[in-house]
Amino acid sequence: MSVLIDGKALAAKLRGELKEKIALYRAEHGEIGLAVVLIGEDPASQVYVRNKIKACEEVGIRSFSYRLPENCTQENAEELIRELVASDKVHGILVQLPLPKGLDERKLLKLIPPEKDVDGFCAENVGNLAMNRETIVACTPFGVMKMLEEYNISLRGKKAVVLGRSNIVGKPMAMLLVNADATVTVCHSRTENLKEVCAEADILVVAIGKAKFVTADMVKEGAVVIDVGMDRDENGKLCGDVDFESVKDKASYITPVPGGVGPMTITMLLYNTYLAASRRNA
Ligand code: GUN
Repeated sequence: MSVLIDGKALAAKLRGELKEKIALYRAEHGEIGLAVVLIGEDPASQVYVRNKIKACEEVGIRSFSYRLPENCTQENAEELIRELVASDKVHGILVQLPLPKGLDERKLLKLIPPEKDVDGFCAENVGNLAMNRETIVACTPFGVMKMLEEYNISLRGKKAVVLGRSNIVGKPMAMLLVNADATVTVCHSRTENLKEVCAEADILVVAIGKAKFVTADMVKEGAVVIDVGMDRDENGKLCGDVDFESVKDKASYITPVPGGVGPMTITMLLYNTYLAASRRNA
């Protein structure tokens, strides 16, 4: 039986520490503000945004919540972002993705300057990550690194396989693992011999959005398995990209879904917002 990596407990611990740091910051510099922009009616996005706003309250970050309708124009959206960029009260800007069809995501996100880009999505922040320089790191992969650190899982010289090549998770995850001296392979839907490649991993990070895709035959005995997925199984029950029941006895460490990576993502958003405020005052 493997060790369960408890993301919920770690998130609670980090949020407690962050709350203290934010209280000290506020006493000296005033409030830290995060603008959360939701465009359209995507049900999952509504839940994520609600959770992000709630988490801000928990640690003492002031959230500014903005909702634009599904049919809003590019100009409307850009006008809002420009206002938030100009506001001293706003230290971080988060535009929840995906955007409704018809809006130009790239053009909109480009308006957010790197220092307010608390998602770590912009080219400058991604470029700094690629060069292993100080930056703002995308929340989910950043949260995964914190989990590995907390459980003293060493990465140096280890074979890490990242399954998924998204800009939000897979690619930044691979860069963080390389920066931590792992030997990294990125797999995706076109990868040949996928099962064999995964089965060589000492550390396997899965972020593809396919329920229970990774089965025991794809996992090396004693591997560390990190499941970024948030899917529904055939009965509509929340599950991850990893078939937890079959993999848990083979892995040395494994993250559950829910209660694994999920709570860490929002925690790192709070951390990035604190970081953005601190750097402004540095
Ligand atoms: N949609 C899914 N994940 C994310 C995320 O980390 N940030 C934003 N802004 N949108 C998302």
